[in-house]
Amino acid sequence: MPVEERDSATGYLTTGHEWNGITELNTPVPRPVYFFLILAATFALLGWILWPAWPIGTTYTKGILNVDQRTSVQASLEQAAMDRDVWAKRIAAESFPAIQADSDLMRIVHEAGPRLFGDNCAACHRADARGQRGFPNLTTSSWLWGGSPDAIFETIRVGINSAHPKSHISQMPAFGRDKLLPADSIDKVVAYVRSLTDPSVASEQPASTIDAGRAIFKANCTVCHGDDAKGKTDVGAPNLTDRFSIYGGDQQSVLTTLWGGRQGHMPTWEERLSPVSRKILALYVTSLRAPDQ
Ligand code: HEC
Ligand code: HEC
Repeated sequence: MPVEERDSATGYLTTGHEWNGITELNTPVPRPVYFFLILAATFALLGWILWPAWPIGTTYTKGILNVDQRTSVQASLEQAAMDRDVWAKRIAAESFPAIQADSDLMRIVHEAGPRLFGDNCAACHRADARGQRGFPNLTTSSWLWGGSPDAIFETIRVGINSAHPKSHISQMPAFGRDKLLPADSIDKVVAYVRSLTDPSVASEQPASTIDAGRAIFKANCTVCHGDDAKGKTDVGAPNLTDRFSIYGGDQQSVLTTLWGGRQGHMPTWEERLSPVSRKILALYVTSLRAPDQ
């Protein structure tokens, strides 16, 4: 086999290898390849000089630009903490109306509120705050203990029937079990209470039953639920004339309420959430109220 063989079609030397009559051209490496190799090597060298690169024992070469992601993360964390400090101080210091009038602070409330609510309150009140049986809907204007930011803040702080020494105490007596009323009186007052929200109850029952129920209500229930049955926020007694019911407004549920009483439990958050978090939650809950409710 000749040592040097030139391909007649291209004019290039061949490598001298031959497989079944096929030979390989010995073409030079294209220039752009050298170009990019040199470029990459220069970039790497420059990189070693400019940025953190080589580990040396316990430390590393820092690079003359003195930038790395560790210091920039550190800086942005410090900045975020400073920003948080600024708004947290303002939320702590300012009154509810002042915060509500400040769109920047309310933006914080709307960012942090859903997260705090989801982490701490949604298990009972549901993520949309609309509650479930036994746990009140917080998006209505029907309040046990009052719906102003101050009242909600206080409820969150002390809880209801909670371990807190200042806890709101909610006691719907067990009129049946504790024999405060005879069974037929309970049936009548149940009919009366249901007639307040459901007109069909009034038409199905004899008028005398509803009247007797009203009289029993006046004698036994108005201390807490008020003469008009619209509830009293100083004892946490709900409005019985609106369509929002914690335990259900059907015959069986109201009877169960009257028979066995109800004592809802809402934990105290004084130890578990900071005052700023509780303030954010009070404002967030206030903001959930649908305009038509
Ligand atoms: C373990 C269940 C539970 C958790 C968790 C819980 N709540 Fe409650 N909450 C209740 C119950 C039950 C009531 C109603 C008590 C009653 O019927 O007397 C209530 C009542 C309330 C009320 C009073 C409503 C009114 O009409 O006056 C507010 C406000 C409230 N909760 C806010 C919150 C917030 C904010 C959180 C989260 C920090 C939270 N709750 C977490 C169970 C819970
Ligand atoms: C000592 C005060 C008190 C008296 C007296 C009282 N209630 Fe209540 N009632 C409450 C409280 C507080 C609640 C809320 C209980 C809870 O959710 O923890 C309540 C809840 C209820 C509910 C449930 C409402 C709902 O949203 O599901 C009904 C119904 C009711 N009362 C009817 C009556 C009737 C009828 C009488 C009279 C026979 C009466 N109550 C007497 C304090 C009282």
